[in-house]
Amino acid sequence: MKLIIAASELIRQALSIPSITEITALGRRETLPPNKLGPNSDVTKLRSVVLGDFLYYTDEVKKSLEGADAVIWTIAISPSKLSTFTWEEACIISRDYAVKGIETTTQLPRHGKTQPLRFIYMNGSNAVRDHTKKPLLMGDYLLMRGDAETKILNYATASNGTVEAQVTKTGIIEDPAQLSAVSKLGRAFLRSLVGLPMINVDVIAAALLDQAINGFEKDTLLNEDLVRIGETRLAAGVYGQKPAHSTDQ
Ligand SMILES: NC(=O)c1ccc[n+]([C@@H]2O[C@H](COP(=O)([O-])OP(=O)(O)OC[C@H]3O[C@@H](n4cnc5c(N)ncnc54)[C@H](OP(=O)(O)O)[C@@H]3O)[C@@H](O)[C@H]2O)c1
Repeated sequence: MKLIIAASELIRQALSIPSITEITALGRRETLPPNKLGPNSDVTKLRSVVLGDFLYYTDEVKKSLEGADAVIWTIAISPSKLSTFTWEEACIISRDYAVKGIETTTQLPRHGKTQPLRFIYMNGSNAVRDHTKKPLLMGDYLLMRGDAETKILNYATASNGTVEAQVTKTGIIEDPAQLSAVSKLGRAFLRSLVGLPMINVDVIAAALLDQAINGFEKDTLLNEDLVRIGETRLAAGVYGQKPAHSTDQ
């Protein structure tokens, strides 16, 4: 299968999964293979595709994205980086790029492929779709990210079965390997204050890849679903091995 992604832990794991034969890393700069590779990695599967403006796909970029089976969309401005962007930029990068991404990748030729193209929009656990429920804190941002979810799910619904979309309501992502013991304690305290769930970076990556390969359990995955799916996938030990619910192609 051909996968389009843009995040290093996803790429690291995908390089070890035999059923993923082609990984197209879409980004605004060149993507190199991750430093720490997983077991049986095949770096020849990775192809970097650079796009200058994510609202305008050149013919050359479109050509390299043809024939995809799944897209995992991680491009967005996260809350911690909001202050360095204008509101308009944050909306364009977090919502409009994703909508343009699903429109573009799903309209490209997919010769010989009969399965719908699977598009996963990675989002945070507290994005809100219902405008009558605007949160007090970061309300505009959370509604804007909720709008992105609605647009992406509606696009798939209107596609007559050619596109499947999924939204992940991800908790705070932690990379235990990168954190000192003091940082871990500090972050645990912060999380308990704001009441956000968490997930380890290897678990979220495994969950996203599982859904991209095996099909969507449902259109919206909560953090607890992602933890369950990702941990099951990692516990299987061998990448590419099917867990019980799998319908792997
Ligand atoms: N990290 C968390 O704890 C967490 C929790 C819940 C949900 N999420 C969601 O998960 C997704 C990924 O989060 P993350 O933590 O991996 O975020 P991140 O490290 O800030 O990465 C965001 C991605 O967006 C790309 N990007 C940003 N501005 C861009 C632009 N102008 N043009 C093209 N690409 C651009 C970045 O590319 P470059 O590498 O080129 O900068 C990067 O690939 C986001 O939707 C985020 O909201 C994250």
